[in-house]
Amino acid sequence: MARKKIVAGNWKMNLSPAACNELVTALTAKQISLPEHTEVVIAPPYVYIDRVAGLLKDTTGFFVSGQDCHQKTSGAYTGDVSAAMLKALGCKYVILGHSERRGYHREDNALLAEKVNTALAEGLDVIFCCGEPLEIREAGTQNDFVNAQIAESLFHLDGAAMARIVIAYEPIWAIGTGKTATSAQAQDMHANIRSVVAGKYGQEAADNTTILYGGSCNAQNAQELFAQPDIDGGLIGGAALKADDFAAIIAAR
Ligand code: 13P
Repeated sequence: MARKKIVAGNWKMNLSPAACNELVTALTAKQISLPEHTEVVIAPPYVYIDRVAGLLKDTTGFFVSGQDCHQKTSGAYTGDVSAAMLKALGCKYVILGHSERRGYHREDNALLAEKVNTALAEGLDVIFCCGEPLEIREAGTQNDFVNAQIAESLFHLDGAAMARIVIAYEPIWAIGTGKTATSAQAQDMHANIRSVVAGKYGQEAADNTTILYGGSCNAQNAQELFAQPDIDGGLIGGAALKADDFAAIIAAR
């Protein structure tokens, strides 16, 4: 099994309905043809998932993702959205553990383990985010920090479930700051992540795990980042909101 390459756009809480249509229409108009084992993923706000899935339905290799989901399957959780709802609207993936969810919504590793279980059980594959804050990077303990995030939220999974996880390394100090990790910093962390996955699930499983980089990734730096042996694509924020930039990042994969 060849390792998948993925370029994913996380729109966060951006775009009007009209701008959403315009962006997806501009992207599909580019008729980007993707090689085998390559996917483009778009994670719009919940309220646009239905329309984005509709606009992308004839575009090969393009998939839709939620930005989060609730850990329970249904119930009295005002304001929340279930994994089954995302699946029913055509999502292939859900992003879990984004640092903005961890920070603003106090999501911890144990809660994320529950969300991972629910998402997988409902038929969604998971883009699991990890990444350290600046003070951890400055203390030089980023590998331990990220390894704990991964172990505590994912390592209860069996091998078949783990094969449905994409890991996205997003150092918090690089998100929305214009301060990208250098390709060497990102490669070091990705190699560390692959080695902890290998330690738990074996080398073959680790070799098949897609590990994305996120954090101020853009049309200028994507090529160098994606050229690293353990970087299998990107999770893109700001630059995913412009069709030309996002297309250039897809081309850099
Ligand atoms: P930026 O690309 O805007 O830094 O955001 C990265 C990110 O958080 C993607 O999930």
